[in-house]
Amino acid sequence: MYNQFPLAKLKEVETPFYYYNMQLLEDTLGVIKTEADKYGFHIHYAVKANANKRILEKINSFGIGADCVSGNEVSASLNAGFPADKVVFAGVGKADKEIITGLENNIGCFNVESIPELEIINELAEKHGKVANVALRINPNVKANTHHYITTGLEENKFGIYIWDLEKVMDKVDELKNVSFEGIHFHIGSQINDLDSFKQLCTRVNELQEWFAERRAFPRIINVGGGLGIDYEKPDENPMPNFEKFFKIFSDFLELKEGQEVHFELGRSVVCQCGTLMSKVLYVKEGVNTHFAIVDAGMSDLIRPALYQAYHKIENLTSSLEEDKYDVVGPICESSDCFGKAVTLPKTGRGDLIAIRSAGAYGEIMANQYNLRALPKAVYSDEI
Ligand code: LLP
Repeated sequence: MYNQFPLAKLKEVETPFYYYNMQLLEDTLGVIKTEADKYGFHIHYAVKANANKRILEKINSFGIGADCVSGNEVSASLNAGFPADKVVFAGVGKADKEIITGLENNIGCFNVESIPELEIINELAEKHGKVANVALRINPNVKANTHHYITTGLEENKFGIYIWDLEKVMDKVDELKNVSFEGIHFHIGSQINDLDSFKQLCTRVNELQEWFAERRAFPRIINVGGGLGIDYEKPDENPMPNFEKFFKIFSDFLELKEGQEVHFELGRSVVCQCGTLMSKVLYVKEGVNTHFAIVDAGMSDLIRPALYQAYHKIENLTSSLEEDKYDVVGPICESSDCFGKAVTLPKTGRGDLIAIRSAGAYGEIMANQYNLRALPKAVYSDEI
């Protein structure tokens, strides 16, 4: 049902562009809300995955908060209507002016990753006559079985506070007057389909809870981050991940104390399947061992295959001829500008509409202007 593209209309739009199925986004948000509400869990959408205003507004309409990693993301979330107290600001390198944006808007929480950052937030908060709510991002040293560029919760990664530094950090929190300790924050990585990694995270959180209890500190918020993976291979069979199973793990394995809230920062799993990069074939060129289908979208529009060797399902929406194999490549002057090698497609020719699926997360938002190309446009299913 979600793979029905309005072809006649799409063919009229100038390519390349991102097409967003707003019904799928809405249905996904509905399931997330229902499943999270079962346990009273709170969701903050990771804006970094896709910050389109229409998408942010839709997400906000479900009463979900915003997880931001820059001052501009904080502003974009507020502009899209997210209430300031539901905006959290994370990131390993927050600049002073970004911190000030958060303070001036009285955002809900800063997720802090180091002592020097804590000191600067305290200093700026004092200057602005505020007390900043902070959660400590702890590096849990839990391995997520995913691409090494997108694992974040290992000791070798730059993120978070090491467990052995916690004592020092909490001493600092106690000493500083303009920060208020609200909770602890974790994120082990992205595109995680092995749910055991989340069980391990729960175990680590439980151990840390004991440490905080002994210290008589109370983290009111337990933020377990994002990371739930989606099915890039079969977007039609699995248009949504199994949110029911995902949330149940945290309900089953986290040992919560009275008055604690569990927060999640889901990005990819919210928006990925609703987005498709649409492109037209410019030329088919005969290679030595393959045909090259040269399309008008490139790595500047969707960088994931070039950057992470990521797989995206590729379809020819307008041909139904006999199948052949193609290397689907873009026009950019880099050999890595390739969306897929030896992709089986119906016989493909100039002008065919090519869909690169599961591109709603980390697609348009990571687009750039390399080769001085224009940024891709967005088309929404309910506006076309
Ligand atoms: N919270 C924190 C602290 C994060 O670093 C991230 C993602 C998220 C939440 C959201 O994770 P998600 O639910 O989307 O997995 N550009 C890469 C992904 C980078 C993810 C960075 N952090 C990609 O295209 O695969």
